[in-house]
Amino acid sequence: MKPGITPTNVERQMRENDFIVSKTDTKGIITYGNPIFIEFSGYTEAELIGAPHNIIRHPDMPRSAFKLAWDTIQSGNEFFAYVKNMSKDGGFYWVFTHISPDLDNSGRIVGYTSVRRCPKRSALEKIEPVYRQMVQAEKAADARNAITAGTQVLVDIMNQTGMGYEQLIFSL
Ligand SMILES: Cc1cc2nc3c(=O)[nH]c(=O)nc-3n(C[C@H](O)[C@H](O)[C@H](O)COP(=O)(O)O)c2cc1C
Repeated sequence: MKPGITPTNVERQMRENDFIVSKTDTKGIITYGNPIFIEFSGYTEAELIGAPHNIIRHPDMPRSAFKLAWDTIQSGNEFFAYVKNMSKDGGFYWVFTHISPDLDNSGRIVGYTSVRRCPKRSALEKIEPVYRQMVQAEKAADARNAITAGTQVLVDIMNQTGMGYEQLIFSL
């Protein structure tokens, strides 16, 4: 959670044809945001450009979800997830996100692009309790093992359902 911002229960909902787009450098520093990103985040373009992308991180999101995201995109793969974000006023908005690496001519990763669309409400009902369990597991573990404990919640679900991560996300 960002210091000074208290999360509220005020939700903003993406419209059917909205796409929220942002780009970062290799470290997750924002280099571009489209007008809808600016609108939903509640920050000005000047506040967003140059800020770390965790500026809109919501405390309800498990750390282990972002670890999985970074591991996936840093290894050159695309990543899909439902994400709860926090606006500048403390309100929240859910997205279905796709993050992919931007490559230069020699195939080196030079940054990342994320495109988010309106999430299915029925999927949010399923992923919210999973994230809650992941956050609980992270908090219950000592700091050194928090990511492993959070990730284990997902791994258990994948084992129970026999699905890989992407398959699981698309089944929601
Ligand atoms: C292209 C791109 C888009 C991202 N979009 C978001 C986002 O919308 N919300 C978010 O909380 N984190 C997003 N992240 C992840 C953040 O960089 C960060 O890892 C995350 O907010 C967790 O913050 P923390 O590591 O400080 O806990 C994005 C990362 C990249 C590379």
